[in-house]
Amino acid sequence: MTESSNPFSLQGKHILITGASSGIGRQCAVSCDRMGARLLLVGRNQSRLVETLRMLSGSDHDYKTTDLDKIPSTYIEDLATLHGAFDGFVHSAGIEKTLPVKFLKKTDYEEVFNTNAFSAFEIIRQLCSRRTFKDGGSIVLISSITSLIARGGVCAYAASKGAINSAVRVMALELSKRRIRVNSVSPGTILTPMMKDYLASLTDDERKKRVDGFPLGIGTSEDVANGVIYLLSDASRWVTGSNLIIDGGYTAR
Ligand SMILES: NC(=O)c1ccc[n+]([C@@H]2O[C@H](COP(=O)([O-])OP(=O)(O)OC[C@H]3O[C@@H](n4cnc5c(N)ncnc54)[C@H](O)[C@@H]3O)[C@@H](O)[C@H]2O)c1
Repeated sequence: MTESSNPFSLQGKHILITGASSGIGRQCAVSCDRMGARLLLVGRNQSRLVETLRMLSGSDHDYKTTDLDKIPSTYIEDLATLHGAFDGFVHSAGIEKTLPVKFLKKTDYEEVFNTNAFSAFEIIRQLCSRRTFKDGGSIVLISSITSLIARGGVCAYAASKGAINSAVRVMALELSKRRIRVNSVSPGTILTPMMKDYLASLTDDERKKRVDGFPLGIGTSEDVANGVIYLLSDASRWVTGSNLIIDGGYTAR
């Protein structure tokens, strides 16, 4: 199949990826590169962003070191002026705070919401101009199955991901006039640095229970990146406002 006849091709598409310095965001960069996209990688850690850049075969990618909790109101405009308007946006930056509700302070909620949801909403606000985002573009926000099913200790995190799922549906309606599609992806447990740290903090019994919940076992970053590619590509041209669950069957129970 030639690139042009492959509906999953990202050839010629310019895509902004946050959280590209590790885990799922890094894998999204590697997979989008393989599908022909030109990428702008965003993360906090310059050396790890450069590491991601070195994993890519294309030569016209770039990166921007950014703390997403502090982006200026001209952030996207400035990037688009320098690198060109975007066809795609993937928000994979995220943090987790595992604490029982009785210990979660307002500042904990603020921290988690700022990175997981508000920074994405602000970027999308800035992408609403034709100068920064092309008609027919695609936006993919990484949510989580904790937005759909409860687990103790993840209230702030789950709520921030639930905010993403709700916002995606409204944004999809509003931006449909320009055929811009907005979707979320909800992964189950994926072995990334963030998840490895979390699993290491559990007792053996807790870890076994967590892993055994997945009929197809724990997932990989590639499993998520493949779903992201689908949503970024023209293969999903009639899909918007949806939440793609990639969880090895966890929520099918
Ligand atoms: N790993 C899993 O099992 C799993 C499951 C469901 C959902 N998710 C979601 O997938 C996304 C990626 O998770 P991951 O497992 O790859 O985690 P990770 O920790 O490996 O990657 C998160 C990335 O976000 C970046 N980041 C965090 N705060 C930032 C900020 N203020 N500014 C800029 N960058 C910031 C980090 O630098 C890092 O590159 C997250 O949104 C996470 O909630 C992960």
